[in-house]
Order: sequence, then structure tokens, then C-alpha cells
Amino acid sequence: MTQRVALVTGAMGGIGTAVCQELAKAGHKVVASYHPQFDNKDEWLAEQKAAGFDFIAVGGDVSSLEDCQKMVAEAEAAAGPVDILVNNAGITRDRMFAKMEKDQWDAVISTNLTSLFNMTKQVSAKMAERGWGRIINIASVNGVKGQAGQTNYSAAKAGVIGFSKALAAELAAKGVTVNVIAPGYIATKMVMAIKPEILQTIIDGVPMKRLGKPEEMGAACVYLASENGGFMTGATLNINGGLYYQ
Ligand code: CAA
Ligand code: NAP
Repeated sequence: MTQRVALVTGAMGGIGTAVCQELAKAGHKVVASYHPQFDNKDEWLAEQKAAGFDFIAVGGDVSSLEDCQKMVAEAEAAAGPVDILVNNAGITRDRMFAKMEKDQWDAVISTNLTSLFNMTKQVSAKMAERGWGRIINIASVNGVKGQAGQTNYSAAKAGVIGFSKALAAELAAKGVTVNVIAPGYIATKMVMAIKPEILQTIIDGVPMKRLGKPEEMGAACVYLASENGGFMTGATLNINGGLYYQ
């Protein structure tokens, strides 16, 4: 296989770690992008090394265009042109709309949606020039179905899907695919932040009666990033234990 360079944002979080590992297992060179305020970067890198993964790390806030320019330049200098971009970094600021403050709206829109502009802008034209690229955006089941308490998050994640369909149409003839993974509830710290009694009700409502595993998202990334994934673009993979499908 051709070894590709993959850049994964939110790489040191639950899903991000599994995405990095699965892409590395598939033979890709992986650059792990992390939030500059993340204190355990060195521990994370050491743990990965002990597990047999040698990742390059670049730090930056995905809601800042300037940080993204810097981060991609560093990634390119260390690993070469980015062939695969996984826009995975994200946050929640859950609150019923009646009580939601503007800063909770703004934080989620800028981190979960504007980040796609900031990161993708740095790589998409160069992918098109080279005639090969894979852009994989992590949305959510809650961007597809809407979730009470998440007007900000559902709006941002629905925006991720719209962005991806539009960009897929622009890049389809250039060898660059743009797809979305819409995970259901996955066992990471984001979900563990939900009150236990609410989380139990959510799990009871999942037909498979369990949370998803981060590596199940990583495996989907490997497919979308592969040569044989090249005929799929503008698609949303709903991976949610049967919670919701269109
Ligand atoms: N649908 C409709 N109404 C609901 C509701 C629901 N699912 N859950 C609660 N309500 C209503 C209650 O009945 C109550 O109504 P009344 O005031 O009329 O009695 C009201 O909402 C309670 O509102 P509060 O603001 O007082 O609620 P709260 O502060 O205790 O909790 C919340 C609000 C933090 C949003 C909480 O409901 C919650 O955590 N909900 C889960 C949201 C969720 O699923 N988040 C996913 C996070 S993980 C993730 O996002 C990953 C991913 O992509 C899947
Ligand atoms: P997570 O463990 O909290 O990971 C999120 C990662 O994003 C963290 O590493 C976090 O870094 C990083 N991040 C947050 N804000 C950032 C910023 N401004 N700049 C750079 N990095 C930033 O959560 P996760 O569950 O793995 O989530 C990964 C993605 O999957 C998110 O987009 C999320 O919305 C989506 N998703 C998750 C689920 C789920 O059930 N877990 C379901 C559907 C979709 P810090 O922690 O250092 O801030």
C-alpha cells in the first residue's frame, strides 16, 4: 500500500486516540493534533510509544485560524503533505435552550464547526493539486436527529454534514473525498460527563443496549481513508448501535 500522511485533530481524546491507532495500524504516518491546554501530552505520547505507536504531535486550538495554519505547517514540515485530514476535535456545553448562554453557543459552534473551515482550508487545495485526498469529519447522531439540551451541538454537527456534502461536490472530480462519521454514544470522557441516571436512560434507548467503542469509529476512518474508499463521497456513516437512521 502507499503510505499516506494523516492529521487527526482532538487526537489525544477518546475517539481521536483510537483513530490515530487504527490509521497507524493500517500503515499510515499519523500526526496527532492536540489542544495546547492539554497537560498530559508527553504522558500520552509515551503511552502510545509503549504500545508501539510513534506519533508526531502538533499543538493548536482548532477554533483559531492562526493556530491551524501553524499546526498544518508544522505537520507538513515533520511528516510531509497531509493526505488524510480527520476533523475530530469537539466539545459539548449542554443546556436547555431556555437557559443557554451566548458563550455556550459560541464555544460549540467555533470548536465543532468553524474548526472545519480553519483546518480544511489549510489542506484541501493542496490535496486537489496532488489529485488525492481524504477529508473525514466527525459529526454525531445528535446532529442528525437533534437532541434536547444540545441546540448548539446539534446545530454545529448538522453543519458539519452540510459542509461535507458541499465540499464533496466541489472536490469530487479532483480525487479528494469528503465524508462524515456520525457516531452514536461512544464510551469516552465526553459521554461520561452526562449525569449517570440520564446516561442510563440513553443506553436503555439504544437498540444494542451498549455504548460504542472508540475503535469502531477508528475502523470506519480506515475504510474512508483507504484506496478502495475512493468511490464514496458526501456520505454520512451512521454508527450508533441502531439508535437512529435515516
Ligand atoms: N427531552 C425533552 N425535555 C427534556 C429532556 C428530553 N430528553 N430531558 C429533560 N427535559 C426537560 C425536563 O422535563 C424539564 O422540564 P420542566 O422544566 O418542564 O420540568 C427540563 O428539561 C429540565 O431542564 P433543566 O435545565 O433544569 O435540566 P438540567 O439542567 O437538569 O439538565 C441537561 C439539562 C444538562 C441538558 C441534561 O438534560 C442532559 O445532560 N441531557 C442529555 C443531553 C445529551 O444527550 N448530551 C449528549 C452528550 S455526549 C455527546 O454529545 C456525544 C454525542 O455526540 C452523542
Ligand atoms: P473527548 O475525549 O473529549 O475528545 C475531544 C478532543 O478534542 C480532546 O482531545 C480535546 O482536547 C479536543 N479539543 C477540544 N476542543 C479543542 C480545541 N478548541 N482545539 C483543539 N482540540 C480541542 O471526546 P470524544 O468523545 O473523543 O469526541 C471526539 C469527537 O467525536 C468530537 O467531535 C465529538 O463531538 C464527537 N462525537 C463523540 C461522541 C461520543 O459519544 N463520545 C459521539 C458522537 C460524536 P482537551 O480535552 O485537551 O480539551
